[in-house]
Amino acid sequence: YGEEDHGQDYLFKIVLLGDSAVGKSNLLARFARDEFFPNSKSTIGVEFQSHKMIIDGKEIKAQIWDTAGQERFRAVTSAYYRGAVGALVVYDISRRRTFENVGRWLNELNSHSDMNVVTILVGNKSDLKDSRQVSTEEGKALAETQKLFFIETSALDSSNVTAAFKTVIKEIY
Ligand code: GTP
Ligand code: MG
Repeated sequence: YGEEDHGQDYLFKIVLLGDSAVGKSNLLARFARDEFFPNSKSTIGVEFQSHKMIIDGKEIKAQIWDTAGQERFRAVTSAYYRGAVGALVVYDISRRRTFENVGRWLNELNSHSDMNVVTILVGNKSDLKDSRQVSTEEGKALAETQKLFFIETSALDSSNVTAAFKTVIKEIY
């Protein structure tokens, strides 16, 4: 304690999961820095960003971890999940395959975390209306059966990005 302590009341680790190119890194960039990268490359290894907010007068620091959807670029799995209290499982509403793989990501999350991780299912790229392959109703239905929160987002036009992260953070708190 003392000068080294930056004074936050809570530190929450949150992990991003989902197939490659669903938009995990851009959701994080949008949330933490209000940035978007039209031609972003696959994440290699692990990156994280911290974001502070005040809830009920308490300072909460969310430390959000991001790794690659592709197996060959992924971080050491157990370290990635260790201590996580929240998760965003992301698919791309314009690529059905990424929705079909949600179950695998949930299995991986469940097998690597002993605690109850607050999880939200995120259908990203809601701006791609003309190429939608997964309906909002299907997303909602899956979330209900798996007992997850649900939201559709667009990292491109910013819609619901803050809401997605805040839903998880508020529920953890
Ligand atoms: P990996 O790191 O390989 O696992 O991918 P990722 O899930 O981090 O995807 P990333 O954020 O790198 O985005 C992949 C591509 O989708 C990039 O070209 C982004 O610009 C684009 N993208 C991300 N979010 C959106 C969105 O909401 N709408 C649209 N139209 N494109 C998006
Ligand atoms: Mg990435």
